[in-house]
Amino acid sequence: MNFPKRVKIVEVGPRDGLQNEKQFIEAIDKIALIDMLADAGLDYVESGSFVSPKWVPQMATSSEVFKGVSRKDGVTYAALTPNMKGFEAAVESGADEVAIFGAASEAFSQKNINCSIAESLERFEPVVAAAKERSLKVRGYVSCVVGCPYDGFIAPEKVAEVAEQLYQMGCYEISLGDTIGVGTPASVQNMLTAVSTKVQVDKLAVHFHDTYGQALANIYAALQMGVSVVDSAVAGLGGCPYAKGASGNVATEDVVYILNGLGIETGIDFNKLLDAGWFISDKLGRAPVSKVSNAYRAQQTE
Ligand code: HMG
Ligand code: MG
Repeated sequence: MNFPKRVKIVEVGPRDGLQNEKQFIEAIDKIALIDMLADAGLDYVESGSFVSPKWVPQMATSSEVFKGVSRKDGVTYAALTPNMKGFEAAVESGADEVAIFGAASEAFSQKNINCSIAESLERFEPVVAAAKERSLKVRGYVSCVVGCPYDGFIAPEKVAEVAEQLYQMGCYEISLGDTIGVGTPASVQNMLTAVSTKVQVDKLAVHFHDTYGQALANIYAALQMGVSVVDSAVAGLGGCPYAKGASGNVATEDVVYILNGLGIETGIDFNKLLDAGWFISDKLGRAPVSKVSNAYRAQQTE
């Protein structure tokens, strides 16, 4: 097997995870979560987003969150920014890096960011230019890389086209999002084959929501194809508010467990990661959505 030696985990729990939680989480608790994640060895934490608070109320405290985190050396605290207004707020709040987020599906683009794919790319151009001026790196997301809740099946060629446009615009990495978790190893590998003809595989990340329980199998399939950056959310938090029925991201605990089992380095302290997952789950009044985390807890209490 041609697995990478090391995998970079992009922790998206504080953003992608919490954005879809109905229960309001105080900024102080988000800050504590982010600090625990950084302490557990996650060196990239997507900590919030600068979007319309009318659209995503949970992210309205992002500025407070960015200003309150402890800023561990070597950790990137990143923000989602859909337009210049969001970019300026992210810079003012001290985000280290920003991400723009497009889609391979027209209907999803409209529902999520209220514009077509072409219009979204036009809005992203000035964000990338302004980030470059400030020497800030920009990550690019493509949503609905396998299926869309409104348009159904998405052609791999369409995903490749949007990924290439974001990459050529100046994104250093393209995260491919299976927003509604419908992919299987076969459809994910087909999609990755198409995308990697346009963007080198070492510039790609995978971002799986676990709605259909396929995320770990899909990550395994992506690793086999040379992908070495995986997005995940501690405790399997979240979903996307504009993708009906979408459940949380694959749990970071489960990803680290499988990577440890494969002998792939992550640099993460597993016990501290479990603690971070329980901390935020306690705030939400439920157990983590991670089989691994629940299994460890059950063992401890036996
Ligand atoms: P719009 O209504 O088209 O924007 O929304 P507009 O430019 O016409 O402005 C309308 C109002 O929004 C104005 O305020 C603006 O100031 C305000 P008003 O005058 O009415 O009081 N506004 C903003 N406020 C704060 N921050 C901003 C901002 N921009 C405008 N940046 C917009 C367009 C993109 C803002 C809106 O559609 C939006 O916020 N959408 C939310 C998108 C979102 O956060 N989705 C979830 C994240 S994406 C995701 O989860 C997928 C991913 O995880 C990958 C995957 O899983 O596939 C990344
Ligand atoms: Mg997502």
